[in-house]
Amino acid sequence: MVALNGSVLKFKAWLCCGVFSQAMATLRLPVELVSPMAMVDWLWILHPVLAVVLIYPLTGIVMRLAMQTRSRRLKTAKQPPTVGRDHSDLGRWLAAAVVGLVIVALTVVIATHAPLDQFQGGFRRACTLLLVLIGTLLSVGALWIAKAPGLRLAFALITWAGVLGLGAQPEVWRLSDDPLSPAFWQSHYWSGVAVVGLMLFSLGARPEILRDLRLRRLHVTANLLAALLFVVQGVTGTRDLLEIPLSWQKPTIYACNVETRSCPPFALLPPASQP
Ligand code: HEM
Ligand code: HEM
Repeated sequence: MVALNGSVLKFKAWLCCGVFSQAMATLRLPVELVSPMAMVDWLWILHPVLAVVLIYPLTGIVMRLAMQTRSRRLKTAKQPPTVGRDHSDLGRWLAAAVVGLVIVALTVVIATHAPLDQFQGGFRRACTLLLVLIGTLLSVGALWIAKAPGLRLAFALITWAGVLGLGAQPEVWRLSDDPLSPAFWQSHYWSGVAVVGLMLFSLGARPEILRDLRLRRLHVTANLLAALLFVVQGVTGTRDLLEIPLSWQKPTIYACNVETRSCPPFALLPPASQP
């Protein structure tokens, strides 16, 4: 107990001397009562949290079932007869969840870029983007239930166009739009929308993947690429998360010079007066 109290005291002392307490001192609030994250920062981590907690575990299960489906078909191992259906059912959820994940990211990026009363383009543009958002969500819902091949193709394309349309907005940060530059291939955005396209293909062509050997082969190739892109998203997403400052730190951090890797000196605050 004494040892525990000692560590708590050390931790508090560390906090008292840290930069964090400098910032908190401006508010004259005790460190224990204040979170360094504002509401907007919590919104910004919604997308990474969903990716880590929902998408990646689901991808693992879908890929494991995919290997079992293949080994059952090739009779290289004895597998339960349900593996194909389980893979396909969970695959549908994965595809829809990836679309949802990307829509969450794009909505948060666009809606929080500036205070809502200073929204670029005003009320008209906000309404248009809201309609695109609703249309995209309805379209993925329609793709989920559509049976006719033509409708499935149309809804898959409309959903992807909606995602690309939202992604093309100036608020959405993209490393580069030039496929000839190395930055394009490191862009979290471009591999993200590519993986959405691949998921929509699997979702739209599900009955054909079941029936047609050529399409099944195309599905496997497309999803090997998707698996690679999921890994790429994990790397570039974590990189971006490390680079994005908390909202109240942005004015200072964005004044840094990336070329010279230098920042303006931080203003030192006078020590907070003790109550
Ligand atoms: C990481 C993602 C995925 C991977 C790596 C993957 C891979 C595979 C593999 C290896 C097979 C077996 C092919 C064979 O028997 O030769 C398969 C079958 C299949 N996949 Fe996927 N897949 C993925 C996602 C999806 C998604 C998102 C869907 C649907 C929305 C889907 C639907 C299907 C269907 C319907 C089959 C045929 C199942 C059967 O034969 O009973 N897959 N997939
Ligand atoms: C299935 C995997 C993922 C896909 C398809 C995906 C896709 C996207 C897309 C399209 C954007 C919007 C463009 C942009 O602002 O760059 C975005 C934003 C972002 N992603 Fe991901 N992402 C995935 C996983 C992750 C992971 C694992 C992390 C971090 C651990 C992450 C972190 C971020 C961050 C920090 C942003 C900036 C905006 C925000 O947080 O909403 N992403 N992602």
